[in-house]
Amino acid sequence: MKLVDNKATLSFSNGSPSVEMPVYGGSIGPDVIDIRKLYAQTGMFTYDPGFLSTASCQSAITYIDGDKGELLYRGYPIEQLATQADYLDTCFLLLNGELPNETERGDFHKLVTNHTMVNEQMQFFLRGFRRDAHPMAVLTGLVGALSAFYHDSTDINNPEHRRIAAIRLIAKMPTLVAMSYKYGVGQPYMYPRNDLSYSGNFLRMMFGTPCEDYKVNPVLEKALDRIFILHADHEQNASTSTVRLCGSSGTNPFAAIAAGVACLWGPAHGGANEACLNMLEDIQRNGGVAKVGEFMNQVKDKNSGVKLMGFGHRVYKNYDPRAKLMQETCNEVLAELGLENDPLFKLAKELEKIALEDDYFVQRKLYPNVDFYSGIVQRAIGIPVSLFTGIFALARTVGWIAQLNEMLADPEYKIGRPRQLFTGAARRDVPASFKR
Ligand code: SDX
Repeated sequence: MKLVDNKATLSFSNGSPSVEMPVYGGSIGPDVIDIRKLYAQTGMFTYDPGFLSTASCQSAITYIDGDKGELLYRGYPIEQLATQADYLDTCFLLLNGELPNETERGDFHKLVTNHTMVNEQMQFFLRGFRRDAHPMAVLTGLVGALSAFYHDSTDINNPEHRRIAAIRLIAKMPTLVAMSYKYGVGQPYMYPRNDLSYSGNFLRMMFGTPCEDYKVNPVLEKALDRIFILHADHEQNASTSTVRLCGSSGTNPFAAIAAGVACLWGPAHGGANEACLNMLEDIQRNGGVAKVGEFMNQVKDKNSGVKLMGFGHRVYKNYDPRAKLMQETCNEVLAELGLENDPLFKLAKELEKIALEDDYFVQRKLYPNVDFYSGIVQRAIGIPVSLFTGIFALARTVGWIAQLNEMLADPEYKIGRPRQLFTGAARRDVPASFKR
């Protein structure tokens, strides 16, 4: 970051001395006011719950322009990566800053492929869960448990440890997600195969059985690979900020990623795709398109607590570019599977059409986000609703680890420790009568 020819001056109406703060600029996007010395100079904190106006770090990985609806991974538009690269190319890009050349591409694909197995002991963790445990509960436990097996890659100050931990996490997440699914349906785990693509391998571990050969459908393989690309990173969202804050204590990368999995589970964040599909199924059950008007009235009634899941975004105040690509993928998959008339897809398109013409949504700049169509695609592929967020976590692992490693490689990073505005009781004594 670089100092810009501008300063911020904070003056106080109570006569306290004003304070000058430097302004820094990045390569693109908003400048920042450096408030690091504010408390020392004024004895006051800034107040920004939800961090609507706060930059927690400087980063060179992902850039979002919410007004334009633009998403860049290391400068490359998501629309181009989703059609010209594959997920492992995108992983290489997010981790290293550049797209791989042919040699680097081959080496990276091979490296990840050769780390897809998990320790045989991992399967015994699952036995502690009920078969109907939510896959995100299982996954949070399994990812944290990885740290028990990889003592050779938990020194976060060692760049080589950080590198191998990144490969292990990217490689093993599909295996762990598939294991949590197989455990839930009572089928045997499928070992990864090194002769399949990253997404093809995942499809086989999910839907293959030892009883017969599994043939990967290339349309579904490509659709899943694109879903992974679309979910790979998204600057300082809630789960990425969780991973950074958790990692800033010096804990191992597996524990920090497990914290990200736990945060992503929430319905306001990565859990929205599961919540969105449940919402569509509810509307479908209660009358379908004919009931959309009634549902939208509920959404607009503040007291109902009902939200149009898969709509709205903290940063995008325009169409989420990922939602457009997800809708295209939806069309491709439904056509391949002869489900063009899928009632939920038609219902979703009707909901989107009505919302985009409705003042309530237009005024609040609420558009479909990445979660609005992703559930329909995943359901068509055969992925159960409860596993949607697990797929999101699988894909986002590379973003979390790239952001964590970027922070750890910054010699200036410190443990994160926000302050507060205290509104509780001032000092008081325990009454003498309170004797136990
Ligand atoms: C993801 O941060 C990321 O980058 C996340 C993510 C990623 O890749 O990591 O993009 C992934 O989490 C996508 C978002 C998935 N969540 C949902 O689809 C859940 C539904 N969306 C909302 O919960 C909400 O839009 C948020 C949480 C996504 C964003 O909320 P904000 O920015 O805090 O905005 P807000 O809640 O203050 O909403 C502003 C107004 C409010 O109305 P008013 O009080 O101004 O009258 O818009 C309303 C909200 O009530 N509103 C909605 C709505 N979203 C916002 N009203 C109905 N339905 C919605 N979905």
